[in-house]
Amino acid sequence: MKKIIDLITEQFINAFSQCGYDTAYAKVTISNRPDLCEYQCNGAMAAAKQYKKAPIVIANDIVEKLEGNSVFEMITAVNPGFINFNLNSGFLKNYVSEMAKEEFLGCEQTKSPKKIIIDYGGANVAKPLHVGHLRSAVIGEAIKRMNRFAGNDVTGDVHLGDWGLQMGLIITELKLRKPELVYFNENHAGVYPAEAPFTIAELEEIYPCANAKSKEDEEFKEAARMATLELQNGNRGYLALWQHILNVSIADLKKNYDNLNVSFELWKKESDAQPYIPEMVQYMKEQGFTRISEGALVVDVKEDSDTKEIPPCMILKSNGATLYNTTDLATIVERMKLFQPDHIVYVVDKRQELYFEQVFRCARKTGLVQPDTELTFLGFGTMNGKDGKPFKTRDGGVMRLENLIREINEAVYNKIMENRSVTEEEAKETAKIVGLSALKYGDLSNQASKDYIFDVERFTSFEGNTGPYILYTIVRIKSILGKYYENNHETIEQTEICIPGSEFEKSLMLTLARFNDMIENAVEEFAPHKICAYVYELANEFNKFYHETKILTEENPDKKKGYIALITLTKAVLEQSIHILGFEAPDRM
Ligand code: ARG
Repeated sequence: MKKIIDLITEQFINAFSQCGYDTAYAKVTISNRPDLCEYQCNGAMAAAKQYKKAPIVIANDIVEKLEGNSVFEMITAVNPGFINFNLNSGFLKNYVSEMAKEEFLGCEQTKSPKKIIIDYGGANVAKPLHVGHLRSAVIGEAIKRMNRFAGNDVTGDVHLGDWGLQMGLIITELKLRKPELVYFNENHAGVYPAEAPFTIAELEEIYPCANAKSKEDEEFKEAARMATLELQNGNRGYLALWQHILNVSIADLKKNYDNLNVSFELWKKESDAQPYIPEMVQYMKEQGFTRISEGALVVDVKEDSDTKEIPPCMILKSNGATLYNTTDLATIVERMKLFQPDHIVYVVDKRQELYFEQVFRCARKTGLVQPDTELTFLGFGTMNGKDGKPFKTRDGGVMRLENLIREINEAVYNKIMENRSVTEEEAKETAKIVGLSALKYGDLSNQASKDYIFDVERFTSFEGNTGPYILYTIVRIKSILGKYYENNHETIEQTEICIPGSEFEKSLMLTLARFNDMIENAVEEFAPHKICAYVYELANEFNKFYHETKILTEENPDKKKGYIALITLTKAVLEQSIHILGFEAPDRM
């Protein structure tokens, strides 16, 4: 369905052309003075110079052409040359009823769907999920759903970190604790036990312990490095242990991501890219892309236009070991081979920006991607505590995601129980749903690249720009509809939306009519915060309308049906939007 702004612009284009003015000036925007008008066109101001006329003269020419046009209700030229106007109520009503009938609520599916891989989540195996991974999961999931809604072919890849030093640390610590384990017996030739020699709880205790030890004990650290290298070189016992670590850890991660309503099509890992490395390195060497710098193999990636220093991209360390870079480049090779994506998007902490710049440049320079393959780094800021410093637990430790979710759910549960209208059981279930909205909306409503302050009280408030407020609004609509259908058994057609009878009703319709435009823009800019801003505005418009209108007690049956049709559409748009953001609304709260 065409965007409403485009339909309006078409009218202006005709008018500009009929008056002999360049149609490039026929640009329409939403009014920045909603007290005066709904939309405006400032083209006459810009055209004045070219036509050596006073802007108001041009504005008057255009207004004269458009007066009586069925798209407008009021259109005037205002000094020094603005054109202010409102939309015709019938035109607006037709537009929103049309939108209500459409599968995607008026949003166009892209004409050239792209194959997009979203690299997000990025948890590290064997390390507990902490709040640092929250943002990648929450933002990445929204980006994925937005692009899918727009008609693209999107695949989410969790890209687990499973190949680094943390593996060597765990293996080394385990060897100290349980040297008798068969995995450490070099003479063992048979198969290894199917059962892991640790639980997830033990695993999560082992890693921090080993990590702390490595900071103090150089010998231990060296042993861990050696173990990592041996693992990477194919030590059988270590590989079997690594497989156990993966299994135990992935089962736990899936549970955590499930709780966040986040899911991945691909559970690929850094290790999956390893087989692609030897050939890739050989190719880079043969093609003359590499040079040796202090023993290491590097590719220069700086460009003449750089204003800051971009260091070379290191491919192999002087001891021949591979690095994070090598893995990411090999992952690009793997993705190109298996999926031929048009676009790869990385949702990662913005502190990795320079790193990704190097990797992208290296991939382009060496031709690992097609010239038209897009590579995008979507860096997000830090989630800070109320003190403005990176989020910590009360005693200063790293906050685990599970605990954070528990804290939020408790706060919501207490609020729900204050009302005392539901059973404890129901309150608990509802608190989970509402808590997730608090957490996700609290994050997504900020521009992703910015740092933000995590504030349980504010995020869980039922008023203001919060997830719970949005859900509360949806629940309110559900409740009105429930009451209506208790007494009326025929379904209402969306086409029964009426011509708006009040400014509140019209305002709600104007906001609804902008849905497709907003989505298109949010998708284009990878900006979930724009969906949040819209949803908040729509919820506000609905609530204003609700307070000013007697919906269920309206006596005129057609008008009443019109209201029901309108709020049904409002609910659909709100629900579609939060579904894209990655959370849902309960039936009651
Ligand atoms: N595991 C990494 C970390 O915790 C994030 C991975 C991001 N994705 C990537 N392709 N490098 O920092």
